[in-house]
Amino acid sequence: MRVSQLALLSFGFFASANACGGDDGHNHAIKKRSQPGATQSTAFPSSPLIWGDVNFIHTTDSHGWLIGHQKKSAPEPNYSGDFGDFASFVDHMKREADLRGVDLLLVDSGDLHDGTGLSDGYPPGGIDGHETNELITQLPYDVLAIGNHELYKYQITRDMHENFAPKWNGRYLSSNVNITTLDKDGKAIDVPVGDRYAKFETRNGRKVTAFGVLFNFASNDKGTTVQKVQDMVNEPWFKSAIAEEPDFFLLVGHMPVAQDNWPLVFNAIRAVHPTTPIFIFGGHTHIRDCVQYDNRSMALESGRYMETVGQWSLRHW
Ligand SMILES: *[C@@H]1O[C@H](CO)[C@@H](O)[C@H](O)[C@H]1NC(C)=O
Ligand SMILES: *[C@@H]1O[C@H](CO)[C@@H](O)[C@H](O)[C@H]1NC(C)=O
Ligand SMILES: *[C@@H]1O[C@H](CO)[C@@H](O)[C@H](O)[C@H]1NC(C)=O
Ligand SMILES: [Zn+2]
Ligand SMILES: [Zn+2]
Repeated sequence: MRVSQLALLSFGFFASANACGGDDGHNHAIKKRSQPGATQSTAFPSSPLIWGDVNFIHTTDSHGWLIGHQKKSAPEPNYSGDFGDFASFVDHMKREADLRGVDLLLVDSGDLHDGTGLSDGYPPGGIDGHETNELITQLPYDVLAIGNHELYKYQITRDMHENFAPKWNGRYLSSNVNITTLDKDGKAIDVPVGDRYAKFETRNGRKVTAFGVLFNFASNDKGTTVQKVQDMVNEPWFKSAIAEEPDFFLLVGHMPVAQDNWPLVFNAIRAVHPTTPIFIFGGHTHIRDCVQYDNRSMALESGRYMETVGQWSLRHW
């Protein structure tokens, strides 16, 4: 296995880079296809994305910026792609992956709202993020993880638990984050906001074990619990979840890839599986970053506010 390409793409040129085909289906000239009313992206240095056997597309810290960056002054046109453009891009990429017989996984590392009027500022009774979440559920995400912004207000966490998590069939992960709710008899119980982990097979039969880890966040609202990462990796459920060897581990989480606790999770898995590939997709610090913990792993952090989409591909594997 080797990582053949890592790219952190400014989210402005997608709309033009991936368009293919004319009305008659025979014209393969590349055409710009961003929405007519949108700020057009500047001429951008670009190159074709390289496909591998397993490919990833990553978003993080989108914070409600679903209509992209609309100002005409620099650098906004560089990031003018909106969530509709992204949905279209992902749709084309998923179809292309199927045609090529390769895997393409779409993952998100949390902080879905708090940042724009589209997602926030609802009057009392309304729940920030609820409406934009409806749009996010239209995309074929394979794994999503909870962020700290999903935990500042109990009713928002409850909305994630009751309305958002169930849409993902066990793929909205909150390995170390619980919510307190009432059971059928009105008794308070602690349950994960989404799911603790997921085991699944890719379209091409590769076995995946995925976790969704949040950094050691302490400003969460009453009625929510964040377990420290160092405690989570010692939990019996965690040890038993990593016992079986998958084709790769997929650690998606709201934690920076540098100078935070990913190594705790990474080392816990490495102690059991010395060579199994481990792929990490982090977030929270709103930067573009990439760190390699060892030669069978890679960790990527893909910016913020829909100005960056992370992409990588793995070949010969
Ligand atoms: C925006 O894109 C232009 C054209 O490629 C580039 O010269 C400029 O550095 C970019 N600005 C930022 C802030 O990324
Ligand atoms: C989270 O909820 C699970 C399931 O009810 C429980 O077993 C676990 O102890 C809780 N963890 C924390 C840290 O509260
Ligand atoms: C990968 O790392 C291991 C452990 O450090 C080392 O034994 C091995 O030679 C390395 N492989 C390559 C291709 O660098
Ligand atoms: Zn954030
Ligand atoms: Zn955050």
